[in-house]
Amino acid sequence: MIEEAVALANQTRQNAYNPYSKYAVGAAIGFQANGEGHLVGGCNVENISFGLCQCAERSAICTAVALFGEIEIDLVVVATKDGGTPCGACRQVISEFASTNCRIVCVDESGLQREFEFASIFPDSFHSDELG
Ligand code: THU
Repeated sequence: MIEEAVALANQTRQNAYNPYSKYAVGAAIGFQANGEGHLVGGCNVENISFGLCQCAERSAICTAVALFGEIEIDLVVVATKDGGTPCGACRQVISEFASTNCRIVCVDESGLQREFEFASIFPDSFHSDELG
């Protein structure tokens, strides 16, 4: 599963639209939907109005929700030049759909992988009984 997800993240990274930052990011998320496992990829999509840049992780998550509806994410692979980790905004969005044991794998161009438990890199996340 991880190898397949890393391959998908590296593949979608090739499609990054990054004319402003020149920083290409590919992501792949492994998730459960309708009782089955799935893998979906995404890349960063930038805009000349810089605040509208979309991260690879959120691209993948939005695609997965559009295709499958309710999802539970077990794995997020992020592929970059230097093995960067998901930004804060992406961590918040991942937390909306993450399973309790969700893992994050960051891979660089040399193939070096670092793995984290999502809960350890996004502790004490926002929740409210008022909001559900
Ligand atoms: N980026 C991502 O795709 N994911 C992250 O978690 C961090 C940043 C993108 C946004 C922008 O297109 C470029 O990387 C530089 O910030």
